[in-house]
Amino acid sequence: MLAIRLLAEPTRLDVLALPIRPTDRADPPAELVPVAADLPDGVADELAALVPAARLTGDPGQTWTQVRPGRVPARLLPLGIGAGDEAAWRAAGAALAGVAAREDHVTLPLPAGAPPAVARGLVEGLLLASYRFRLGADGNAPALAAVDLLVEDPAVYADAVAVARTTAAMTRLARDLVNMPASVKNPGWFAGQVADAAAGVPDLNLRVREPRDLAAEGFGGIVAVGSGSANGPRLVELDWRPAGARMHVVLVGKGITFDTGGISIKPVSGMKLMRKDMGGAAAVVAATLGAATMRLPVRVTTLAPLAENMVSGASFRPGDVVRHYGGTTSETTNSDAEGRLVLADALTYAVRELSPDLLVDLATLTGANAVALGKRTAALYSENDRLAADLLAAVDAAGEAAWRMPLPADYVDYLRSELADLYSAPAQGAGSVVAALYLREFTGELRDRWVHVDMSAPSWSEDDDAELTKGATGWGVRSLLRWLGTLG
Ligand code: BES
Ligand code: MN
Ligand code: ZN
Repeated sequence: MLAIRLLAEPTRLDVLALPIRPTDRADPPAELVPVAADLPDGVADELAALVPAARLTGDPGQTWTQVRPGRVPARLLPLGIGAGDEAAWRAAGAALAGVAAREDHVTLPLPAGAPPAVARGLVEGLLLASYRFRLGADGNAPALAAVDLLVEDPAVYADAVAVARTTAAMTRLARDLVNMPASVKNPGWFAGQVADAAAGVPDLNLRVREPRDLAAEGFGGIVAVGSGSANGPRLVELDWRPAGARMHVVLVGKGITFDTGGISIKPVSGMKLMRKDMGGAAAVVAATLGAATMRLPVRVTTLAPLAENMVSGASFRPGDVVRHYGGTTSETTNSDAEGRLVLADALTYAVRELSPDLLVDLATLTGANAVALGKRTAALYSENDRLAADLLAAVDAAGEAAWRMPLPADYVDYLRSELADLYSAPAQGAGSVVAALYLREFTGELRDRWVHVDMSAPSWSEDDDAELTKGATGWGVRSLLRWLGTLG
């Protein structure tokens, strides 16, 4: 990961990035932001001349490379920061990672008197946009190794930079887990990655249930979904338990390491990306590791039910009745509706055995998320207006996107089965909504302290786009860490 230092005096000035912002005039349309450092002679005048010549507007994330052969700095990188808020600085950081990808070192003075949130946005943008996933050597990896931020007093920004670094590192971890091909990433491997990441962290405990434990304790949904695979299922339980915590949150994440659809097999186009079907599990695990790294004063227990939904002679069948943890039964009319079956076990376990204050699940649950809300926005469900609002505010502040959806009474009838307590895959109704209504059946007394987030759509990006890189986005890690940071 790119090194970011806070300095009061520059060590190198060979490549200098300078923040510019829009003016409210046509001439000039943008101006240099007064910064917390002395600039080399002539640089401010040169930049003022460059703005109209290069038609710079100062919009967030706008960049330019001004080459100055034989002079110091050898390259000047004007960087648009728009209104200068955290989101604009995140965009600027992401753009800087792109324009400076072939540099090895950049110096950037921050605006004089900038609030710490500026550093947070900038550092998250830099560290998230410079992410690459490659197995083996990467000849095209960004060269940028270090960014020095010039500030009046480094102590003012140290905490914000540390939080941004942890947030980005955990988002990158989630991206790594989601991007990993399923030939490597089976449930046992995923649990092993969690064990490696959690090892030695004080007050962080891990329990992994193996297939025989799951069968013995009655986790029938996880066992059924995992039954068709040579790689058995797991249930990861990761517990961040700081002394003195008053609030206890349980996070649950769908962890299907590959979703073929099972016997109700998916077509080629629908299956090709299904290694991402553990994006919820990756996000909740990474957020919990982040909470432990930052020592947030809130207890967080994360449950990641992990299974590979495969096709074989041992697979569960459409029409089977599955008996979940706690005894509720589901008629499983479509083996491709597997996520809700593993989540049902984990939610019931959370409610019965952990009795948390709040319960939040993240899942790549339905293709209907993207149909309803497009490719960047998660669907958020809750009966609790306050909790929904708090989470939505955290999602927004973190630079992710979610939209609250209803839990309407008119679809509840679709969950009725003649054979079992519930019907897991009704053909009627809005797909993402009906899935949420099904999960609600397993929230027991936590029903009005529960949030479900269907994040199928934003878990993956088709292109590099600001701080997102092509492939896994790590959606949810930033939002959850923001939100957890407000509790306690
Ligand atoms: N993992 C999929 C949902 C999904 C689809 C995530 C596309 C990301 C992109 C889930 O297990 C699934 O197959 N859902 C079905 C539900 C249906 C069978 C009731 C769906 O969305 O079609
Ligand atoms: Mn499926
Ligand atoms: Zn799935």
